[in-house]
Amino acid sequence: MSGRVQTAVLISGGGSNMQALIKAAQAADYPANITLVISNTPDAGGLAKAQALGVKTLVIDHKAYKTREDFEREMDKALRAHKIDLICNAGFMRILTPWFVRRWLGRQLNIHPSLLPKHKGLYTHQRALDAGDRQHGCTVHWVSEGMDEGEIIAQSIVDIFPDDTADSLAARVLTEEHKLYPQVLHSVIVSSKAKA
Ligand code: GRF
Repeated sequence: MSGRVQTAVLISGGGSNMQALIKAAQAADYPANITLVISNTPDAGGLAKAQALGVKTLVIDHKAYKTREDFEREMDKALRAHKIDLICNAGFMRILTPWFVRRWLGRQLNIHPSLLPKHKGLYTHQRALDAGDRQHGCTVHWVSEGMDEGEIIAQSIVDIFPDDTADSLAARVLTEEHKLYPQVLHSVIVSSKAKA
C-alpha cells in the first residue's frame, strides 16, 4: 500500500463508526482516504452522515440479488471501480461468503462490540451481562472466513458496573469503538508500509 490508502467503509445502520473513521481521515497526516461508503440497506442512517461529510455513498441492496455471492460481486465491482485498497466493515450486518473474504483477505477489517473471542455474533452487550462478565469492550480484527474469528489486532476494555443495562454498556463500548477503529486503521497502514 503506497500513498494514502483508498479505503471504503461498509455499513448497514447508523454509521457512527464510519463517521469516526471519516473524521479521523480528514486530518492532513492520516494515512487513509475514506473515498466510498457502501450500505446494503437503503435506509441506513449512515448514508446521510457520509454525504454530509463529502464522501460518496452507494446503496447495494442485498435484497435485489438472488444469491449472497451475486450481491457481493456487485460490491466487489464497485470497490474495484473506485480503486479501493482496504475495506472497513462498520456495523455491516451481512455474513460474507468465502469468495468475498478470500478476494479481500488481508485487506478487510471489522469492528466487533465484544472482547473476542468472547461473544461472537449478536446481542453482545446483553450476553456479557448475562454471563456475569466484569469487563467488556470492542475488538478490531482482520476479516476471515469464520464470523468474528479473524486475527485480533486491538481491543479496548470497559468495566461493567452493577447497574449497567445492555444500553448503557453499548453506549460506553461505542465511545471506545470510535477511538479504537481510527487508531487501528492508522496503525495497520503504517505497519504495512514499514514492512513493504
Ligand atoms: C457497533 O457497535 C459495531 O461494533 C456493531 O454494530 C454497531 C454499529 O454502530 N457491529 P454504528 O453503525 O457504527 O453506529
